[in-house]
Amino acid sequence: MDIATTPTNPEGNPDLADAARSPHEPPVILRADYRPFGWLVPQVKLDFALGITRTSVRAELTVQRNARADHADTIRLNGDSLVPVAVTVDGVATDWRMDGPDLIVPLREDTHLLAIETEIDPGANTQLMGLYASGGMLCTQCEAEGFRRITFFPDRPDVLSVYTVRMEGDKAAFPILLCNGNKVAEGEGADGTHWAEWHDPWPKPSYLFALVAGDLVANSKPFTTRSGRVVECNVWVRKEDLARTDHALESLHRSMTWDEEVFGREYDLDLYNIVAVSDFNMGAMENKGLNVFNTKYVLADPDTATDADFDAVEGVIAHEYFHNWSGNRVTCRDWFQLSLKEGFTVLRDQLFSQDMRGEAVKRIEDVRILRAAQFPEDAGPLAHPIRPDSYREISNFYTATVYNKGAEVIRMMRSMVGVERFRAGTDLYFDRHDGEAATCEDFVTAIEDGAGIDLTQFRHWYSQAGTPRITVASAVEGDKLALTLTQTIPATPGQSDKQPMVIPLRVAVHSRAADALGAEELIVLTEGQQTFHLPLAGGDPALSINRGFTAPVVIERQVATEELVFLAARDDDPFARFEALQEFAVNHLMGVAAGSYAPEARAAGEAAFVGAMRAILTDPALDDAMRGELMMLPSETYLFEVMASGVRKADPGAIHDAREGLKAAIASALAGELAALHARAAATAYDDPNGRGARKVKTQALVFIAAADPAKAAAMAAAQYDAADNMTDRQGALMVLCSLDHPAREARLAHFLSAYEDNALVVDKWFSLQALSLHPRVIEQVKELANHPQFTIRNPNRVRSLHMAFAGNPKAFHDASGEGYRMIADLILALDPINPQTAARFVPALGRWRRIEPVRAALMQGELERIMAAGNLSRDTFEQVSRSLDA
Ligand code: TRP
Ligand code: ZN
Repeated sequence: MDIATTPTNPEGNPDLADAARSPHEPPVILRADYRPFGWLVPQVKLDFALGITRTSVRAELTVQRNARADHADTIRLNGDSLVPVAVTVDGVATDWRMDGPDLIVPLREDTHLLAIETEIDPGANTQLMGLYASGGMLCTQCEAEGFRRITFFPDRPDVLSVYTVRMEGDKAAFPILLCNGNKVAEGEGADGTHWAEWHDPWPKPSYLFALVAGDLVANSKPFTTRSGRVVECNVWVRKEDLARTDHALESLHRSMTWDEEVFGREYDLDLYNIVAVSDFNMGAMENKGLNVFNTKYVLADPDTATDADFDAVEGVIAHEYFHNWSGNRVTCRDWFQLSLKEGFTVLRDQLFSQDMRGEAVKRIEDVRILRAAQFPEDAGPLAHPIRPDSYREISNFYTATVYNKGAEVIRMMRSMVGVERFRAGTDLYFDRHDGEAATCEDFVTAIEDGAGIDLTQFRHWYSQAGTPRITVASAVEGDKLALTLTQTIPATPGQSDKQPMVIPLRVAVHSRAADALGAEELIVLTEGQQTFHLPLAGGDPALSINRGFTAPVVIERQVATEELVFLAARDDDPFARFEALQEFAVNHLMGVAAGSYAPEARAAGEAAFVGAMRAILTDPALDDAMRGELMMLPSETYLFEVMASGVRKADPGAIHDAREGLKAAIASALAGELAALHARAAATAYDDPNGRGARKVKTQALVFIAAADPAKAAAMAAAQYDAADNMTDRQGALMVLCSLDHPAREARLAHFLSAYEDNALVVDKWFSLQALSLHPRVIEQVKELANHPQFTIRNPNRVRSLHMAFAGNPKAFHDASGEGYRMIADLILALDPINPQTAARFVPALGRWRRIEPVRAALMQGELERIMAAGNLSRDTFEQVSRSLDA
């Protein structure tokens, strides 16, 4: 069923019938219904009297009739849980009325000055949208529709205003007062208060407004732009966190330099503030000149943050910085265009990280994320195009599809035209739309015009959901390989018929017989079926296809094991080596999980895979960072998707056992190699040039050893933990210990908590490691952890560290008892009234029920129905649960 229609009412389920009749069912918003707003709001003045439990807000809006919109004699100002204290038009008290949460004010002339007073209680704001309190400080989160929780306003991204903001508050409680733009005045007030006035010269939509007031200190370092502007860069944190801010500040400087060099984009204010807060719904927010960050993406030092944490800080800092152009200078016309800023900005941050830390490893990481998070979304009830057509709650569309597939779609354009022409396209885009609220269509047109390419058919990537599947057939014809590719795009909710997509694939045909590498070329599949003729490099061709993962598709082919072994060892594209090993592992594990292997065939498959892995472990030409990637087997989540796309439904138990079995086989056969690798890596110092790679393979080696020889792994992991001088080694060792039923486990867990109990981000790790473990008692342990004094449902990082981690632990979550499903459904019900945005993010885990074997499917569906029957759900959770039951 299309999500635009009312949920069905399955007969015989009175509970669901009640829910479906609920008067609270939120309306569906359609992309096709977009109309420009009737009024422009060129100027906004805000005056805040700040207090944790009571903040009063006075807003003055200069409004002007929009000549490009239909005539209106009222203005609708969005509100959410607000009551107007006073409303005046041109200084005179006026009639107004409420329409649901919105304020409607009659306006006769072409311009008016509208003043509105509201009062809010930030201390009671548990949703963390609008103005809220976090650890004694006040901060805002306005994207997407949080500004309407602060004051009545046309809270839509196509209304751009210049903001002047005065804020006043107690000087002892809020010594630092920050807002967008530049501080233009400040002073002392009565009764221990002080105030500051800020002005942001760049017109912006309300979702980019931000304010912060609190007891903060900054790590500062000026950046000089290429045209000579000196920018004061500050990272604001609580005093005790100051020592962990250097990496964030350096990452900001690197991002600023990179965007000048690679995209020609320069910063446009004299001040760039970043504030870290510990209660935050997502990663970070790109508010103009005042980014607000989850502490997780700011604070890092070797003692408390892993190498992956350092990378995530660098990536998110870059992402928010890059939004200054892709998002802020050019913003979105409406929320259906979200991928315009998010897809493009994710691509920009991915390219940045590739340049900072190596192209192949970063590409592998990004493809792994796409397969684990986006492919399941595209194959499930919540599938949507990167530019959705409808929603009930926009927060539900901050998805892997809009972000990560959105980035892949733009990356394909870049692959087709090349780096230079792509740059000409983005230059034209920024030039043409600077200061505007644009659409995805505007972006595609700018790339067409600037790069000189026709993207007519390519636009299907914006409108069609579902991951294309490409089947491969090949035959040698003289000195060519005739390669016939067939594309199909699976049906998704509301979209049964699909048009063929434009699919660029980098390919090469190597030769096993000649041990020769073929030249790479880019082929572009545009038809449902098409044959390409590629040069042969010799006999026994080995096809290397979708090199570098040029297209976000699934390749389905029958391929000989020897061909994959050859590609894994010899391909000149490092990504293709990774891909060949993954393909090999997937084929083998699917055979084992489906029980379709005779024992001898299984043993032969295992032996061949062990051979390929031995080559990876011992290849002196590989650096350890790449070796660590190649050692990682495909995730259970990805294997689940592959299995569910075949003739059978996914069987998580069989997948888990097959994967653990392969790990054990590798570890038994390669015990010596793994031990040698661990020993070599353990002897590498933290700041050795190969230190990061060494740490990666060290823990990978332990993960394998644990599958074959738990006692040995426990001893090695305990020793690694005890010797660790950094969090990467410590967390890696503890991860391995957590999955083992061994006395070394409890002692190290207790040590870890007592050593870091005052560091919330490290305590989050302590919860996550236990929730992610393979320990036989993991479900009971997670239940106990939910009652631990350090657990709180009110902090999103903590909930993610325990329950989101658990939902991402396939063995535990899919326990045949259904206990895992029940625990997550209970969490959704408990969290929904507190923080609906975060609660709704747990629904997709249960939503995959149609792709799983029938016993578990019924249990998952039952939990979704139980949530639906509870009634009074938030818009967020209602939308996700109803779509999950309907599709
Ligand atoms: N725009 C932000 C980003 O991509 C993310 C974001 C959207 C967000 N909505 C949010 C962050 C709500 C926190 C809360 O960087
Ligand atoms: Zn973003």
